[in-house]
Amino acid sequence: MISSPVVPVFAVRAWPGLIEAYRPYLPVTPETPVITLHEGNTPLIPVPTIAAEMGRGVQVFVKYDGLNPTGSFKDRGMTLAVTKAKEAGAQAVICASTGNTSAAAAAYARRGGLKAYVIIPDGYVAMGKLAQALLYGAEVIAIQGNFDQALEIVRDLSEMYPVTLVNSVNPYRLEGQKTAAFEVVDALGNAPDWLCIPVGNAGNITAYWMGFCQYHQEGRCDRLPRMMGFQAAGASPLVQGHVVSHPETVATAIRIGNPANWERAIAVQHASQGSFSAVTDAEILRAYQKLASQEGIFCEPASAASVAGLLKCKDQVPEAATVVCVLTGNGLKDPDTAIQQGSDHFHPGVPANLEKIAEIMQLP
Ligand code: F0G
Repeated sequence: MISSPVVPVFAVRAWPGLIEAYRPYLPVTPETPVITLHEGNTPLIPVPTIAAEMGRGVQVFVKYDGLNPTGSFKDRGMTLAVTKAKEAGAQAVICASTGNTSAAAAAYARRGGLKAYVIIPDGYVAMGKLAQALLYGAEVIAIQGNFDQALEIVRDLSEMYPVTLVNSVNPYRLEGQKTAAFEVVDALGNAPDWLCIPVGNAGNITAYWMGFCQYHQEGRCDRLPRMMGFQAAGASPLVQGHVVSHPETVATAIRIGNPANWERAIAVQHASQGSFSAVTDAEILRAYQKLASQEGIFCEPASAASVAGLLKCKDQVPEAATVVCVLTGNGLKDPDTAIQQGSDHFHPGVPANLEKIAEIMQLP
């Protein structure tokens, strides 16, 4: 028996943030000082043109987590990680980041009155993310190295100094992020057949699986999805089966060669009969443009890897399956890539003259 979709009591009131919404499923007590920006409750949006391309009655939705307060799914993990850090008396948090984690860590830390230190790969963080971390008031240290090196350094620093590590090796991050799976089941009334998700450090795929399994145990869904993880071809250690020492991709959010949650990700793949596949930068950018120009959904390039992957594996999707693609971050995070990709439609420096403009518009 599947229980009917949850209609939470707060549905008619303001959304309280995911810790309040899913309190019974999370490691908090009445005394825990909840630090929230009312994250979560993001929409599950049908994408009909992508579904039509799939054919055979396949239904496709995107979980648009770019609508979280700092514009990515990281807020789900960060509300809980920073809450628990605060509860434990921490005064500072630290993370390595390709950008989104740093924005979320900075926002939640400052909200909770903690200091935030973020270490990022110099020159490989999208402009919007850097802007966020700076304005939220984090100390931003851009290193001449990649994310994997930054993660090694912050792991050591957090052992040597009184700063709490809030990368996805912090178990509270995954606990918070699993709520995205709860929301998917709450919206669909069951788990999807497939969950397509971009994979970098492999925290999110692990967290989603935790959420689906927990809801399944509680009888909130009667099936579990196949977990389909997609990596950028130039940064695809889980596909290749070995560390990639110089990862490269236009999708800088997932420019990672040695995922911290490697073993967990492999366990998820086996348990869910899922797979890891690579998508090229060209495929990622095609899906990125398609989502924006055909569906009106602006995500960041890394997020589009989920849709690129689905389109690539189209023939493996069972007939009439329900598929959810996770869109992990907002397109506004990376205006440079958007402007480059959309430049065909840009007409700069046009004289302020009606005839000239009408000519460009090619009006009949
Ligand atoms: N999508 C986006 C937009 C991301 O920012 C990330 C990771 C992922 C997907 C991959 O998620 O690491 O859990 O497999 N960004 C991290 C960061 C690494 O520092 O912001 P994952």
